[in-house]
Amino acid sequence: MDQVLALMREAASRMTGAACPAVSRKGRGNFVTQADLAVQEFLRGALQERFPDYGFFSEEQENQADFSRPVWILDPIDGTANFVAGYGHSAISLALYQEGAVSFGAVYNPFSGEMFHAGRGKGAFCNGAPIRAEHGAALPDALIELGTMPYYKDRAAEVGRLTEELLLAAGDIRRGGSAALAFCYTAAGRTGAMLEGLLQPWDYAAGLLIAEEAGAETGDWAGRPLDPRKQSAVLAADKRIFAEVLAIIQKIRKE
Ligand code: IPD
Repeated sequence: MDQVLALMREAASRMTGAACPAVSRKGRGNFVTQADLAVQEFLRGALQERFPDYGFFSEEQENQADFSRPVWILDPIDGTANFVAGYGHSAISLALYQEGAVSFGAVYNPFSGEMFHAGRGKGAFCNGAPIRAEHGAALPDALIELGTMPYYKDRAAEVGRLTEELLLAAGDIRRGGSAALAFCYTAAGRTGAMLEGLLQPWDYAAGLLIAEEAGAETGDWAGRPLDPRKQSAVLAADKRIFAEVLAIIQKIRKE
């Protein structure tokens, strides 16, 4: 898959090479930029040329994927609001789903130069070096990344309660603005856990495999295995922290 990582690096020049005004809005704070479309079109063309039998499922296009064959799942820019604001924390997220699971995932942040990737059964890496989901701190000292579901304002009160309970239980809270990178930061042991109440397949398919291959425990907010073909609530965590964070989620969900 080295050629796919090289294509992602090439695609990212469309993110870093030019000014990037929002071209349209899908909702409040929910943008599509020229760069989203340019990254998507470049990768769609390049992947279809090299893998003509594979399907393509991407955030910025209408698509009904046929998952009975291998399918690329792409978020051309995860963390688009960061991108529009010049925040420097956004990434291309690309996964390959085949035979009932994600077999390959890569998340590339051209602003930091970090390429995270994983192959099923082959481990997880950041710029070629192995990573482990070992935060090195128990929950009372841990950093926890909480995604705020920015496009679902009707769930803001739930985010508020989670923030309160997690802040009381953990060392501190983080909110980076890219779910794909949040998975990778947990995979690299930078955070003890990441969670968000609703993500789409393109937001999390690649990060999920990277976290799992790094040894993280993952699941939805009932603790069930995630199906990266479907939108879902997600939790990924250092194995020593997972159950405690899940218990906090479940306490709040019952209120
Ligand atoms: C969003 C980001 C954000 C998360 C949202 C996602 P987008 O993806 O990952 O961190 O909170 O739920 O939709 O819209 O920037 O591709």
